[in-house]
Amino acid sequence: MGAHSVFLILVCVIGTAIVVHGQGQAGFISIDCGSPPNINYVDTDTGISYTWDAPFIKSGVNVNVSEEYGYPKNPVLPFPLADVRSFPQGNRNCYSLTPSDGKGNLYLIRASFMYGNYDGDNALPEFDLYVDVNFWTSVTFRNASENVIKEILSFAESETVYVCLVNKGKGTPFISALELRPMNSSIYGTEFGRNVSLVLYQRLDTGYLNGTGRYQKDVYDRIWSPYSPASWKSTMTNGYIDIFQSGYKPPDEVIKTAASPKSDDEPLELSWTSDDPNARFYAYLYFAELENLKRNESRKIRIFWNGSPVSGAFNPSSEYSMTVSNSRAFTGKDHWISVQKTSDSTLPPILNAIEIFSAQSLDEFSTTTEDVRAIESIKSTYKLQKVWSGDPCSPSLFPWEGIRCSYNNSSHQIKSLNLSSSGLHGPIAFSFRNLSNLESLDLSNNSLKGFVPDFLADLKLLKYLNLKGNNFTGYIPRSLRKRSVDDGLVLSVDEQNICHSRSCRDRSRILVPIVVSTLVVVLIAALVVICILRRERKIRAYSGPLLPSGKRRFTYSEVSSITNNFNKVIGKGGFGIVYLGSLEDGTEIAVKMINDSSFGKSKGSSSSSSSSSSRVSKEFQVEAELLLTVHHRNLASFVGYCDDGRSMALIYEYMANGNLQDYLSSENAEDLSWEKRLHIAIDSAQGLEYLHHGCRPPIVHRDVKTANILLNDNLEAKIADFGLSKVFPEDDLSHVVTAVMGTPGYVDPEYYNTFKLNEKSDVYSFGIVLLELITGRRSIMKTDDGDKMNVVHFVEPFIDFGDIDGVVDARLRGDFSSNSAWKFVEVAMSCVRDRGTNRPTMNQIVSDLKQCLAAELGREPRSHHEKEACLIPITQLKV
Ligand SMILES: *[C@@H]1O[C@H](CO)[C@@H](O)[C@H](O)[C@H]1NC(C)=O
Ligand SMILES: *[C@@H]1O[C@H](CO)[C@@H](O)[C@H](O)[C@H]1NC(C)=O
Ligand SMILES: *[C@@H]1O[C@H](CO)[C@@H](O)[C@H](O)[C@H]1NC(C)=O
Ligand SMILES: *[C@@H]1O[C@H](CO)[C@@H](O)[C@H](O)[C@H]1NC(C)=O
Ligand SMILES: *[C@@H]1O[C@H](CO)[C@@H](O)[C@H](O)[C@H]1NC(C)=O
Ligand SMILES: *[C@@H]1O[C@H](CO)[C@@H](O)[C@H](O)[C@H]1NC(C)=O
Ligand SMILES: *[C@@H]1O[C@H](CO)[C@@H](O)[C@H](O)[C@H]1NC(C)=O
Ligand SMILES: *[C@@H]1O[C@H](CO)[C@@H](O)[C@H](O)[C@H]1NC(C)=O
Ligand SMILES: *[C@@H]1O[C@H](CO)[C@@H](O)[C@H](O)[C@H]1NC(C)=O
Ligand SMILES: *[C@@H]1O[C@H](CO)[C@@H](O)[C@H](O)[C@H]1NC(C)=O
Repeated sequence: MGAHSVFLILVCVIGTAIVVHGQGQAGFISIDCGSPPNINYVDTDTGISYTWDAPFIKSGVNVNVSEEYGYPKNPVLPFPLADVRSFPQGNRNCYSLTPSDGKGNLYLIRASFMYGNYDGDNALPEFDLYVDVNFWTSVTFRNASENVIKEILSFAESETVYVCLVNKGKGTPFISALELRPMNSSIYGTEFGRNVSLVLYQRLDTGYLNGTGRYQKDVYDRIWSPYSPASWKSTMTNGYIDIFQSGYKPPDEVIKTAASPKSDDEPLELSWTSDDPNARFYAYLYFAELENLKRNESRKIRIFWNGSPVSGAFNPSSEYSMTVSNSRAFTGKDHWISVQKTSDSTLPPILNAIEIFSAQSLDEFSTTTEDVRAIESIKSTYKLQKVWSGDPCSPSLFPWEGIRCSYNNSSHQIKSLNLSSSGLHGPIAFSFRNLSNLESLDLSNNSLKGFVPDFLADLKLLKYLNLKGNNFTGYIPRSLRKRSVDDGLVLSVDEQNICHSRSCRDRSRILVPIVVSTLVVVLIAALVVICILRRERKIRAYSGPLLPSGKRRFTYSEVSSITNNFNKVIGKGGFGIVYLGSLEDGTEIAVKMINDSSFGKSKGSSSSSSSSSSRVSKEFQVEAELLLTVHHRNLASFVGYCDDGRSMALIYEYMANGNLQDYLSSENAEDLSWEKRLHIAIDSAQGLEYLHHGCRPPIVHRDVKTANILLNDNLEAKIADFGLSKVFPEDDLSHVVTAVMGTPGYVDPEYYNTFKLNEKSDVYSFGIVLLELITGRRSIMKTDDGDKMNVVHFVEPFIDFGDIDGVVDARLRGDFSSNSAWKFVEVAMSCVRDRGTNRPTMNQIVSDLKQCLAAELGREPRSHHEKEACLIPITQLKV
């Protein structure tokens, strides 16, 4: 028993029955979709007042059904079906219903559809319905005159209930009528409470004789369909049955007729098959005794589902209607309900009415209210002519046009908004700032004007911002430019909003005094800070026992001492953590501890010393000793190494300005001129050139990247981390290795196919480094789709369009020789050619880069004032 569904018997107490006959149509929303403007009428068949639909929806077009199906040829056509609203535009169109009972209550929503060849295409469409963000049902037609009616019982989650028609590519959605009725929220309970909606499967008036079974008879305006199979007979009563005892309130005419089996010992049976084996059904059965039972007569009933007894026996009351329902869902494909008399019952079973619903889970989430509020405000501010209705992000297959969202298990967020060519005018609305999850914003090709607001920089996740093709005045605020430097924000703006020398000139005169005085203050402050930092660093570096310089092989405890017990981390690389250290003579050094599971790096721990692999250690020693013989001014000096069986470490000279990757994404890069960038490029090219062509045997670096190019005090570049490169024999320039080496974004594509690394692989990686230098971007950047984009793909379109300004880092503010930049891009692109054999050698690259430098040095010098004026953020320009 326990495993079977348990029936709830809602027994009702007889009380002082106050018969409140219908509050009329209070709370009803009855819409004749597609009707002519300002039409309100009472349908003579039902007595229901219909209104036109424009107040409930902004999109779609009104059309009459074709002559063949409409008036006057078809005089019995219900009035609401004579016209439809169809939705050729947008894939989700929603009616907004605002029930007067407000949110949290249960509503019956009914949508009616008759195709009637309204579009003259004679093609039956198929589309989906949603209530708010949740799937309701699919609408399909058997023929053009079929009146398809869909009904759902649903709790309103908010003040507005959206009923959405979704175009799934199988014809244009349309609708004939839409109705909403307030229900008693205490009825139609399920084991899931308010977490499910009930989609009507069947509502049957069993034992039907006559009547409409609808509004005026039914306070909730349910539609009861007559049902009388041949093996059933009908009985009725003229006596009084109290239908108001429970909240279900079945209509009098429905409850006053009942079906019973023609042959007294037979049960009443109903069966159906579900397409969905996981469907969950709830049945609500209505009973009332219609006969005057004699003393020796009794009617006792039990209900079975799929052959299992699932209710206790009960006697229908002759005084009131009772409703019996399953508290656990009927699940499975095949369903068979049987209403039987008990063995001690003298009379056959009866059934007055039955409703069967399938449960629809409410498992979609909505967009966060902040995002909804912001996007609605944008929509109304700019009076957008878009099919934007219902929830912006949900259902996830059909978000609003131009919107993309992130979906997770709580609520959805708008992460991308494309309002390109959407007729926006006026200033950028503040509401954009409230879309706090935005990663991509495309406002291009509108008529926006005014200043570019700096609140856009508050959008912390923004990675892409396109403002091109508008009428903005002034320049891009510093805060935004800073974002493009620090966070890799891809900023597309019009020429006149970029701070170029010419456009800045007219403002420069007034601004110079402010700029100069500000700069002086900043400079002094900076100098003071630098001096303090210098002193602090010296003091720290000299503490602890020191080691003699000139030594090359160190023990773990020496390394620990050099680094003052691993006191200061200055970097984290692919191989391990880098610590600052200092030799006896005060030379600052960088100690890179090599990560290896068998080499515990933790301070003082003397754990797994014996378990270290001697093979790894041996290879490491051989390489380290060899590297000690490699010297070039553009290679980071290798001071020594540590390999005492417990730890492996590489010890380099310390480079004050860190690595190029960090430098390019720091505040410092603001002052990194084109000329300085060219010097860095040439320095690193020379370092690689030496490894490839100056060493015997040649050394392939195998991990060339901006993070492995270090900058000293004077911004001279040195290549680092070739310590872990493989040394190749001279006669075998390409070498097969098995594990994938290198860093994503820099790896030679040819390597993936051949697993061969050679000098040309380094050349490919170096091409990426050059592109990072000129664009100021990372080798792999994120696009607005959340997809990753290689810097090569980023620059390609600009190169195709001959747009060098699009390629060059905005922080240079146009201050570069375009000849030099073009030449540089050419060199970089030749390095990243698909086939290694088509790439230049490092010799060639060094000489080409020197030409770039010559071109830059040969151009007209610029005035100082123009540069400074560019630093002033837009907000100050207004003063
Ligand atoms: C539909 O028919 C009605 C009356 O027959 C007419 O007044 C109305 O203009 C028609 N609507 C459309 C969209 O053609
Ligand atoms: C259209 O389909 C409905 C439902 O199957 C059916 O009752 C009706 O007779 C059909 N009408 C025509 C004209 O085929
Ligand atoms: C139904 O929703 C309530 C919260 O509204 C939740 O506490 C409950 O666990 C849910 N029940 C089921 C069966 O999902
Ligand atoms: C319905 O049927 C009953 C019994 O046959 C009859 O008395 C009653 O007048 C009928 N009502 C209508 C509206 O036809
Ligand atoms: C709603 O239904 C409940 C339970 O059946 C009942 O107690 C209550 O009186 C009903 N409310 C209304 C307004 O009918
Ligand atoms: C009940 O009693 C009546 C006489 O009052 C009799 O005619 C009828 O057969 C009895 N029915 C049963 C089931 O015993
Ligand atoms: C889902 O989004 C919410 C709202 O931002 C966030 O707090 C939560 O961490 C996200 N959950 C997952 C699993 O991503
Ligand atoms: C949501 O949760 C379900 C089950 O917990 C999991 O299978 C699914 O991947 C989650 N979806 C997201 C977007 O986090
Ligand atoms: C925005 O939409 C336009 C076309 O409507 C498209 O050209 C453009 O690439 C889109 N922008 C983004 C960032 O996807
Ligand atoms: C921009 O402003 C200029 C001058 O005010 C005007 O001629 C032009 O039409 C405007 N462009 C747009 C796209 O609004």
